[in-house]
Amino acid sequence: MPALLSAPVPLRAVLGTQWGDEGKGKVVDLLGENVDIVARYQGGANAGHTVEFDGDKFILHLIPTGILRPHIHCVLGNGMVIHPDSFLKEVAVLEKKGLEVLSRLHISPGAHLILDYHQQLEKCCEESAGDERIGTTGRGIGPAYADKASRVGIRVGDLFHERILKTRVRENTVIKNRWFKSVYQQNEVSEQSILNALQSFRDRIGPCVDDTTWFLHQSLQSGKNILIESAQGTLLDIDFGTYPFVTSSNTTLGGMATGLGFGIRKLNQVVGVVKAYTTRVGNGPFPTELIDDTGERLRKTGEEYGATTGRPRRCGWFDALVARYSVMLNGIDSLAVTKMDVLDDLDEIPVCIAYRIHGREVTRFPADVNLLPDVEPVYEILPGWKRSLLGITKWNQLPHPARRYLKRIEELTGATIGLVSVGPSRKATIWVE
Ligand code: GDP
Ligand code: IMO
Ligand code: MG
Repeated sequence: MPALLSAPVPLRAVLGTQWGDEGKGKVVDLLGENVDIVARYQGGANAGHTVEFDGDKFILHLIPTGILRPHIHCVLGNGMVIHPDSFLKEVAVLEKKGLEVLSRLHISPGAHLILDYHQQLEKCCEESAGDERIGTTGRGIGPAYADKASRVGIRVGDLFHERILKTRVRENTVIKNRWFKSVYQQNEVSEQSILNALQSFRDRIGPCVDDTTWFLHQSLQSGKNILIESAQGTLLDIDFGTYPFVTSSNTTLGGMATGLGFGIRKLNQVVGVVKAYTTRVGNGPFPTELIDDTGERLRKTGEEYGATTGRPRRCGWFDALVARYSVMLNGIDSLAVTKMDVLDDLDEIPVCIAYRIHGREVTRFPADVNLLPDVEPVYEILPGWKRSLLGITKWNQLPHPARRYLKRIEELTGATIGLVSVGPSRKATIWVE
């Protein structure tokens, strides 16, 4: 039996099991009550994690959600990509709300920087791809990780070595400007303005830069509890997701080992956040997508608009193949099911239990994602509960059909449900004991 979600454990990870926006922000915030440190291991400001409490609403992009609880220290790991201006803007928003931020942040010198030329390059690539575009968040994520893999990226630690920084910025601007000029007919970027921006960023974050791997290991050894916050979702993972319609990092559990410097055997619990239905922003296959009035109804009721870009999210039914695949890939032992309240009014709720591919029925998510556009979902129909779940805080107060729906999710995924969310606020939560 996995530990209860309400019980503290030394090292717990929270990750998304679908295409992102599962409600990770809310779940990390809830679990933050018993932790000392919250750490992010991948991604950048493409994330949008929403937390609501006491009538206030926060959306975190780069800074771990734990920052909202004043006792928590937060780590931005080496696997992340940080855009200086977005970072400073986010700090300013939080400070304006009265939160002390910089003194609680630990930034890895190994994290890569996203510079304006990455965002400009991404825009050019997306525009020239036409109908084939990925539909990215436009935050420069892909080009920054491409530079990392090409070994030409600029890292947080480089900011403190003047000569290295200047050389790297020069080499990058020369190459990128060739692209802008000859391939994309765009304005060139200025080496000096990049350096100026980086120098003022360095002056602000200097005291936050830390050996984060050492800090995390030492903290764990001295009895502190750590929560690891993932961004995006399993199906957006660069290896296991719906490539090429994915993000550019490993969102799955392995990314944590390389993005923070932990052996995954240190983990005590892996929590998968799963929406009671499915959404996706951007392009790419989505077998259970509803492109009819029902999809529109889910979008309206669930307020499914991107927390980062404001784009309408594509909506569809719960896909058990996707969720089971995520449970397997990440070794998830506990599920947090969110947005159950969005299904309150439905008479019947279809759940996808198999795919029909070229006349054959399969119950396993296909390794060959090129098959996905041809997939026809096979549904099992479950009865709706036709009443509001608002105010329910105990499992046995849930109407019978809601319990049946949740139990079916457990059967189909093989993971135990530890928490059910029935509204955006902290209070709208059922801890399953
Ligand atoms: P994340 O990226 O996984 O953190 O998720 P987002 O914040 O992008 O999107 C989830 C949205 O659903 C946010 O607006 C949350 O406030 C909201 N939310 C979370 N849990 C629930 C829930 O149980 N019910 C409802 N109605 N909204 C929820
Ligand atoms: P959170 O952490 C949902 C999607 C984009 C696009 C693809 C690649 O809030 O769950 P990118 O900008 O990363 O190169 O875009 O990934 N995407 C997300 N979708 N939630 C997110 O983050 C996402 N981050 C990226 O829409 O399809
Ligand atoms: Mg989000």
